[in-house]
Amino acid sequence: MKNTTNEIRKKFLQFFQNKGHTILPSSSLIPKNDSTLLFTNAGMNQFKDFFLNPKKKKYSRVTTSQRCLRTGGKHNDLENVGYTERHHTFFEMLGNFSFNDYFKKEAIIYAWELLTSEKWFNIDKNKLWISVYQNDEETYEIWLNIIKVSPKHIIKIGDKNNCKYNSENFWQMGETGPCGPCTEIFYNYDIKKNHDFSKFLENKNEYFIEIWNIVFIEYNRVSSKKIIPLKYKSIDTGMGLERIASVLQNVKSNYKIDIFKKLIEKISYFSKTTNLNNISLKIISDHIRSCIFLIYENVIPSNEYRGYILRRIIRRMLRHAYKIGIKKNFFYKIVPYFVENISENFNFLKGKEKKIKEILKIEEMQFSETLEKGLKILNIEIKKASNQEISGNTIFYLYDTFGFPVDLTLDICREKGIKVDLNSYYLEKEKQKKRSNIGSKFYKNCNQIININDTCNFEGYKKNTIKALIKHIYINKKSVSSISEGEKGIIFLDKTCFYPESGGQIGDIGKLHYKSSCFIVENTKKYGNTIGHIGKVIIGKFEINNFLYTKINKFYRNQIQINHSATHLLHAALRQVLGNIVTQKGSLITNVRLRFDFSYPNIIRLSDIQKIENIVNEEICKNNLIKVQYCSLEEAKKTKAMALFENKYDAIVRVISIKKFSIELCGGTHTSRTGNIGLFKIIEQSSVSSGIKRIEAITSSQAINFLHIKENEIENISTALKTKSINFKEKINKLITQVKSLETQVNIFQEKENTYQVQKIINNIENIKGVKLLINIFNNYNHKSLRFMIDKLKKDFQNIIIIFINKNNNHYNIITGVTKNLTNYLTALEIIKIFIKHTNGKGGGKKEIAEGGSFNIINLSKILKIIKLWVTLKLENKKNHVRE
Ligand code: SER
Repeated sequence: MKNTTNEIRKKFLQFFQNKGHTILPSSSLIPKNDSTLLFTNAGMNQFKDFFLNPKKKKYSRVTTSQRCLRTGGKHNDLENVGYTERHHTFFEMLGNFSFNDYFKKEAIIYAWELLTSEKWFNIDKNKLWISVYQNDEETYEIWLNIIKVSPKHIIKIGDKNNCKYNSENFWQMGETGPCGPCTEIFYNYDIKKNHDFSKFLENKNEYFIEIWNIVFIEYNRVSSKKIIPLKYKSIDTGMGLERIASVLQNVKSNYKIDIFKKLIEKISYFSKTTNLNNISLKIISDHIRSCIFLIYENVIPSNEYRGYILRRIIRRMLRHAYKIGIKKNFFYKIVPYFVENISENFNFLKGKEKKIKEILKIEEMQFSETLEKGLKILNIEIKKASNQEISGNTIFYLYDTFGFPVDLTLDICREKGIKVDLNSYYLEKEKQKKRSNIGSKFYKNCNQIININDTCNFEGYKKNTIKALIKHIYINKKSVSSISEGEKGIIFLDKTCFYPESGGQIGDIGKLHYKSSCFIVENTKKYGNTIGHIGKVIIGKFEINNFLYTKINKFYRNQIQINHSATHLLHAALRQVLGNIVTQKGSLITNVRLRFDFSYPNIIRLSDIQKIENIVNEEICKNNLIKVQYCSLEEAKKTKAMALFENKYDAIVRVISIKKFSIELCGGTHTSRTGNIGLFKIIEQSSVSSGIKRIEAITSSQAINFLHIKENEIENISTALKTKSINFKEKINKLITQVKSLETQVNIFQEKENTYQVQKIINNIENIKGVKLLINIFNNYNHKSLRFMIDKLKKDFQNIIIIFINKNNNHYNIITGVTKNLTNYLTALEIIKIFIKHTNGKGGGKKEIAEGGSFNIINLSKILKIIKLWVTLKLENKKNHVRE
């Protein structure tokens, strides 16, 4: 085949090498030293520092083919995969980069030459179209006057929602980082039709596909509000390899290019479908590539961070496999085929197939059962959902009882056009959290069931990894001599760097490994004097008396440490602001937030909360050292170290001090300097029980995110109120006054309208056995007015039965009124009960007034006839009764 994907990659790199660029390898999918990104999402990521400070640059011109993953953050294509012909989670991005070397003109000339020159890609110029950033006249002129592109083929694209730089033609790496305006080159697959390129953005026209993005890096975004110009200008370009291959192979879809064709054919052997266009086949072929490269980079499926994304991808893949009739584990069988036949450019995968296969197989096995059960239940619920909506309760039940992931439920519902009630799902989840807090007491006691008379040295204050000896293994609370692949259990060692849940600090997570065996630690707890590593073996086997290496998840631990040190600062600040009456009653320190319970009898005002926040943040800014010392309990008491003195302490205690500001006895792990906390924000204040208050707070990036959310909320309010936040109070007061005055006016009008309505409908009053009966049907009428009208009619006529039906879309509300003189013979509530019986509705009320409602009314006039007949019979009885 001409223009194979591998040839295209080579040609691209060769072209730029000829233009003085150094060919560099792709960097890892896991960005190094960059906490702003979860995964590498563009070719430029590895050069971030070169853009920001070209003095750091090692080259002036480079070219790469970069492995990228777009499944989170600013660039997330997960939901589009399979549903469009050109989105991927994993893909390769071809790019050329200039660091303070050539700029706009050369970058555009190079791109045009590569795409159109006969010697290179030889694409028909008439098929190429260009977009430029609205105000970037210089770029526009280059395309028009130097490249000589027809003005009909160039479109200027501006900002969205009047928000500067919020544009398809302004590229940003993430929430922060290098950025700038860009010009994009599109390929038009259908040149014969006179497509309107200017409508492209609205319609996301499938004919025009973006093939190359040339970014003029001129700025650094430092926050969502602030963007600063860079001293030096640079170029970052990106061309999706799979997209350009689809153009050069003239197949119109990334999923039909040589490498995907092979992969899809292979996957289809396992399925019941022969249609190679099947969406599920595309999704699986995309996702399997992400899985292979992520596992190669040592990402392991788990419930947090990168591992969670991998787990999500695998589970999504499995669901689609199920959809096309693949019920047996099979992903792992694709791995050797991929490595052998498709990954010519990825020789490093050779020899790693076994590990990748194993991890995929285990995850697939574990999830299969869940998937089958969950799908059955969800399908039943979808069939039942008469209003085309799945309740939050169902989503929660699937998740809580079967471990069926919420995103899969959302995915399936999206496909079937079913709405989901996510709000009530979150409410259910909150309730569950409260229930499990109560339950956690029970689990504490459970630890005691495993009774081990042993010790374990905790060496995790300074080290993240150590070699240790396996002393005991427990599976299902029973002591065993080994634990094998797929089994869950608890491993006890002679020493560890995993911190066990204690003193409010949650237990560490990470892995225990030896050779190719790996045990994922999901939690760490104390068992008497020893420490249990709770989790499961994902590869291999572990036996008593063997060695292994312990490796904690540093990122997770770091966040916990930051929150622990912040808790000490909070404790000290609370005492400064509220007085020494504050004593600690409990705490919970996790990787995402901290909670501190303390005794304080009075209300804490907002101004106090703000004072406390200020003090803590001032201490953070001082960037003081957080010192750890060991001394005798007596000495510690002399330094006035804070402690829970009702606790039992050893003779030698560990003291954590932050200058003189905070001195506490504490066994937990801490960050090294206060500055690492970054920012401290209290997010909730409540009362736990009489005299015990609770503060919940967040730090570092969590705090920044929280402020961003608040900022967005203010911006939304500001847009809605059409005023700046500083004027909110005035504007809201004005609106309240306006609303009140409108309400008064509406009430006056409504009263008039009601009186008019009453005049109108009294013509419908019938006389039945000497009693007045009024039945009237309204359409979406004000409910309060109906009640008012019933009262008025009752007063005016004294001897009347009123039945109002108020129709609102497919809901019917019924209100009935019966004057007191008749309630010995029939009541309003009885009428409602008849309504409920025949409509499967709901309702209640009293003898003189009652209400009900139903969605299930097919024949309203029949129901009204039944009610009327019943009323007539009752009144007949009344007459007889009076006669007797
Ligand atoms: N960084 C730009 C993109 O990803 C160009 O490489 O589109």
